[in-house]
Amino acid sequence: MERHPFLRHICAHRSIRRYRDEPVPWETVETIVAAAQCSSTSSYLQTWSVVAVLDAEKRAHLAELCGGQRHVAQAPVFLVWCADRYRLDVACRMHGMRHQADMLEDFLVAAVDAAIAMQTAALAAEALGLGICFIGGIRNRPREVVDLLGLPEYVFPISGMTLGWPAEAPPRRPRLPLPAVLHRERYTTQGLEGLLRVYDEEVKQAGVIRTRSGEIRPWTFMAARKASRTYRADLRAAVEAQGFGLT
Ligand SMILES: Cc1cc2nc3c(=O)[nH]c(=O)nc-3n(C[C@H](O)[C@H](O)[C@H](O)COP(=O)(O)O)c2cc1C
Repeated sequence: MERHPFLRHICAHRSIRRYRDEPVPWETVETIVAAAQCSSTSSYLQTWSVVAVLDAEKRAHLAELCGGQRHVAQAPVFLVWCADRYRLDVACRMHGMRHQADMLEDFLVAAVDAAIAMQTAALAAEALGLGICFIGGIRNRPREVVDLLGLPEYVFPISGMTLGWPAEAPPRRPRLPLPAVLHRERYTTQGLEGLLRVYDEEVKQAGVIRTRSGEIRPWTFMAARKASRTYRADLRAAVEAQGFGLT
């Protein structure tokens, strides 16, 4: 599949966490977001927005809110991708209708729209020679992000994205074997553990998962550690505070 130039482009993706000290022109940011707007969007509702932060002080503040992630402050641009039903609220008012955003579905649709748009933006940025790294840490302290960026009701930050000119070329992080994620006609659980053991060896060989002291770890260990902890217990309340019901 990697023989097709566009598929090669997709597969060349690496998250970039070190950037050259060189600005990204505003027109380039506009080009990337305009490309993101070409993505599919549920019911043609376009329920996402993005806040581009170029101001160094604000980026440093956001880096802190994202758990002290240095690349957030170091990249010349930080994009905050948001689920956004504010425009739908305005549309309802324009037509004397009552905006319904009380269901989990309403939030999920907007979050999926935002996720699709930000991945399109990532591919566009990479096509222009830029590097990106998504930042889920934006949901660590969402209420403070809402205040800092002045997000109105019905707007909630889904993910951040660092953007800038790469100053590193990290190794590829191997992905799960295809049969672990691609099921034909019916989901199969058979043989999964065997596949994961083989994958663990591949990831160890690549040396892409390391502890702080540099010890190499298998993928299942990292995944199990992540999956056995709880994170962001305040998230539901923060989403609801922005006007979304999650019924
Ligand atoms: C929604 C999302 C949130 C992420 N959050 C962070 C983050 O907060 N900090 C970070 O350094 N990387 C973050 N990442 C990047 C992942 O760690 C990275 O995509 C993964 O390890 C695979 O590596 P690769 O992108 O280089 O292939 C995030 C990725 C996604 C899709």
